[in-house]
Order: sequence, then C-alpha cells, then structure tokens
Amino acid sequence: MNNKAPIGIFDSGVGGTSIWKEIHKQLPHEATVYLADSTNAPYGNKTKEEIISLCIKNTEHLISLGCKIIIIACNTATTNAITYLRNHYQIPFIGIEPAIKPAALMSKTNSIGILATKGTLSSKLFHETSKALALDINITEVVGEGLVTLIENGDMGMAQTTNLLKKYLKPMLAANIDCLVLGCSHYPYLIEQLKKLLPSNIQIIDSGQAVAKQTQLVLSSKNLLSEELTKPKLMFYTNSKAATLKFLLTQYKDSIDILEKTF
Ligand code: DGL
Repeated sequence: MNNKAPIGIFDSGVGGTSIWKEIHKQLPHEATVYLADSTNAPYGNKTKEEIISLCIKNTEHLISLGCKIIIIACNTATTNAITYLRNHYQIPFIGIEPAIKPAALMSKTNSIGILATKGTLSSKLFHETSKALALDINITEVVGEGLVTLIENGDMGMAQTTNLLKKYLKPMLAANIDCLVLGCSHYPYLIEQLKKLLPSNIQIIDSGQAVAKQTQLVLSSKNLLSEELTKPKLMFYTNSKAATLKFLLTQYKDSIDILEKTF
C-alpha cells in the first residue's frame, strides 16, 4: 500500500462531510475520496443485510479507486457492518460510533441523551458498547426519524426540522440530561438549531475529532501518512444531485472537486 494513495470516506449521504472536515483539518496533506450514497439514504431504516450490502458496494468502489484506508463516516453503517467488512477485506477501516464514553465521563447529572438513527440504536454493537461503557448512567435514546432526509435536502433551517428537534429533545430534557450525543454524522449540521433549543448547560458532543485523531494514529502506525507537501486532490462523488454537498462544502469550493456519478 502506497502512502500517496487517498483516504476513502463514505456515508449514506452528505452527513459524513462533517467527519471529512475534521479529517482534512487534522491531516491537510492527505488526498481524500468521499462517496455520498445519497440515492440510498437514509440507511437508518434499512435492515442490517441491506446496510451491509450497500457498505460492500461503497467499499469495493473506494478500493477500486486505490484508497489506502476507509473511514465509515456513518454510525448506522459502522454499527451494522464494520465487523463484516473487517472480516472480508484487508484494507484498514475506521468507523464512528456515538461518543457515549466522553459524555458519560463529562456528565454531572449522570444523565445523557443520544440522538441517532433507528439502525444505530437497534444494533448489537451499539448495545454492547453502551452496556460496557456507561454503567451507572441514565441514557435517554431517541430516534431522529426524518432528520437525515431533511438534511439531505438542505432543509436544516426549516420549521419542520425545528419542530422535530423540539419533539426529540423533550424526553431528554425531562430526564435532566447535561450531555447530548449526536449519534449520526448528519446531525452536526443541526448544531446551530439545537443550541437555540437547549439550555446552555447542555453540552453537544459528536465524534468528528476523535475519528480524525484515530485516522492519524492508524495511518502513522502503518507508515501510511502522506509525505507530500503539495495541495492534495480532494474528490467528492455523489450518486444523487450535488446541490446539498456543494452547499455544505462552500468554504472549500476552490480546493475540491464535486462530481455526480453512478456507483
Ligand atoms: N450519517 C448516517 C449516520 O451516521 C445517517 C444514517 C442514515 O442514512 O440514516 O448514521
């Protein structure tokens, strides 16, 4: 494997760009290829078998593009498919899971909330992790039904989105949470709206920085960090319309390429 090869990243759609931003910030010399499988979003309501089969498709596409590592920038895909992928492919994988551990350590009220998809919250991996990590902590789990589709459409600021958030936060506020874990890579795009709805003592936690740090550690341990100091190639492919991807990545528009493509 060649250290000049790109880092491959995939998500059910545009949400994983929240993870890409952290990776690019921590590893600015790395070339990246991002796949937004928006045609198949949301993954969160699909069966485990369907999610695994979509992850196989994305993985094989990234391998065919010569990637040196694959970041599964999707909690739903990670919790349902990473074990299968690691058992069937040699390329290293990094996944994301809801950041329960830092939230449990940070909480003073011993009560935390998790907003994630049905696919993540019902997965075996999520249950095992939360059981192992967060003993003695009250966890209020809420499925963010409908949010991924709204974000895919670029409707973060719509009244419909705010109303759904109000509904999903209600049981968490009733449980006196002081940490809200965003267990879906799309949800960091709702942080502005969430801040308006939450009391200021509630911390919002996502997994972006931790994933970027882990990517750096794994690449370094395998001698796969890029040594190039020139501008890296930053490719984004979507199998749907590119409008939301372009909107979310506006600040990078002069250094990235976004293409619509079937995969
Ligand atoms: N970004 C995905 C996640 O982190 C969204 C899943 C979906 O498509 O429902 O779970």
